[in-house]
Amino acid sequence: MTSSPTAVSTPLPTIASIDRPAVSSAPSQVRLRNVTRQYAEAGVNRVILNGIDLDIVTGEFAVLLGKSGSGKSTLLNLIGGLDEVSSGQIWIAGTDITALNEHDLTIFRRDQIGYVFQFFNLIPTLTVLENVALPFELRGRSRRDGEQRARELLARVGLSGRDSAYPDRLSGGEQQRVAIARAVIHSPALIMADEPTGNLDEDTGKSVLSLLLELTREAGKTLVMATHSAEVLPYADSIYRIHEGKLVREPKSAVALADAGIANVQHNGTAHE
Ligand SMILES: Nc1ncnc2c1ncn2[C@@H]1O[C@H](COP(=O)(O)OP(=O)(O)OP(=O)(O)O)[C@@H](O)[C@H]1O
Ligand SMILES: [Mg+2]
Repeated sequence: MTSSPTAVSTPLPTIASIDRPAVSSAPSQVRLRNVTRQYAEAGVNRVILNGIDLDIVTGEFAVLLGKSGSGKSTLLNLIGGLDEVSSGQIWIAGTDITALNEHDLTIFRRDQIGYVFQFFNLIPTLTVLENVALPFELRGRSRRDGEQRARELLARVGLSGRDSAYPDRLSGGEQQRVAIARAVIHSPALIMADEPTGNLDEDTGKSVLSLLLELTREAGKTLVMATHSAEVLPYADSIYRIHEGKLVREPKSAVALADAGIANVQHNGTAHE
């Protein structure tokens, strides 16, 4: 079940109202060098990512495209420190995360990165308020401050009054708005979003996207998003496509986007490719 945007008590901004930052002179936030990820399956090595180089600067909004199974989630999980490279290096905010031990990586993720997933990944046994406040409290901040900040954010995402509900009572769009509030509450420098609108209807997807862009833009956050949604492309600073294990930068012109077959998007968010 998904919500209608009319259910939102706080008016959502239109995507067009979101200011674009100047990112050209900003320092590098995400840097990948010669990153490879392969899986052994039935004795056969499958190379999913093959020598990826990437630079994303602070405040940049980078979009990742590619067919299903091309390796978008694999790449996002590597950048987000949720999976380990087979070879190569990844720096986030100057830290080589491929050199961190598990304990330090956990702390790094907790402090520096916010995540938004396709299936929301809220903790079912925690209330909406507790879900949002969790990353804040995990950083050692008081529960009172966490809940105060969580209430403010829930108002921002149009969910005032749903504090004590459990996630299974919320529509898909509402759950994703809770997940967005949770992703930004601890002010991480980097937000990773893996098909955040992939499980939402078109209108709900747009409002969720708008919210995610607004909350990351206004705070100067770096946003890396895998998506099949063409709506987002005009707002991206950079567009990349994974194809046969390689990362290719896509030109941003409308003609090029149409040529690439990504202007034609179905209502379920799946691009024809
Ligand atoms: N743990 C794993 N073990 C073996 N193969 C894996 C593993 N995780 C991912 N893969 C394989 O890596 C390839 C890329 O998967 P990935 O989930 O990154 O694709 P994707 O581009 O995100 O696709 P989608 O658009 O469907 O989400 C797939 O062929 C998948 O089967
Ligand atoms: Mg995926």
